[in-house]
Amino acid sequence: MSIVIEPSPTVSDAVATRRSVRAFLPDAVPEAVVRELLVKASRAASGGNLQPWRVYVLVDGARDELVRRVADYRKDHPLGDPPEYSVYPPKLAEPWRTRRFRIGEAMYATMGIPREDKQARLKFFSGNWEFFGAPAGMIFTMDRCMQEGQWADLGMFMENIMLLAREKGLHTCPQEAWAPYHKVIRDYLSVPENEMIFCGMAIGVADDSKPVNSLDSERAPLEEIVTFKTDA
Ligand SMILES: Cc1cc2nc3c(=O)[nH]c(=O)nc-3n(C[C@H](O)[C@H](O)[C@H](O)COP(=O)(O)O)c2cc1C
Repeated sequence: MSIVIEPSPTVSDAVATRRSVRAFLPDAVPEAVVRELLVKASRAASGGNLQPWRVYVLVDGARDELVRRVADYRKDHPLGDPPEYSVYPPKLAEPWRTRRFRIGEAMYATMGIPREDKQARLKFFSGNWEFFGAPAGMIFTMDRCMQEGQWADLGMFMENIMLLAREKGLHTCPQEAWAPYHKVIRDYLSVPENEMIFCGMAIGVADDSKPVNSLDSERAPLEEIVTFKTDA
């Protein structure tokens, strides 16, 4: 299925049409819309109702300033700094390694960028730090005292935002790519030291003329991820 621009009227539609969009139109996303999404998304379940998530919203000039600061920092720190957490396990085993490889290859194939063209791949990837052109972005943090259970809670909050965005005809891209730039983000947004910077999220109107947005990510068949036990 290619990108769906229309708002999604049902939850199933929202789930089916949510995808990580990596090219956005400059059309504004009003702060009020983001506010509404966040109020609704905060109905996410969380163990003990801790609601451990925190989010910093960047629109208009504030978004541009973070983009500018990260671009500036990257001149001297092209790889950023070690993230505050392991984005992936240090040695990704199978089948996860292959899944990661395949999505990367499939994504660059949409743009005709071969594996050898590291420069073109890096150039595209650096679009992460411009929120892929989206006019609004978010940075998600969580208190460092939180544990594995609360990471799941944060994920549910984020998923709600992404699904609710579909109801508005908007798309999103969750972005761990911001993690190596936690120092710049912390400084700019005055994020207190007790909060760990997890990831960002671009939000906006998808540019369906861009080949990268034709990417249709695979999913493992049910047999690979589910164990049904039917007999006692
Ligand atoms: C927590 C999280 C962080 C992600 N970080 C990035 C990122 O930094 N850049 C990016 O292009 N995609 C990122 N993604 C998107 C994944 O690559 C994408 O969800 C996956 O390939 C499945 O594709 P889909 O979202 O289109 O269904 C991230 C997804 C999640 C859930």
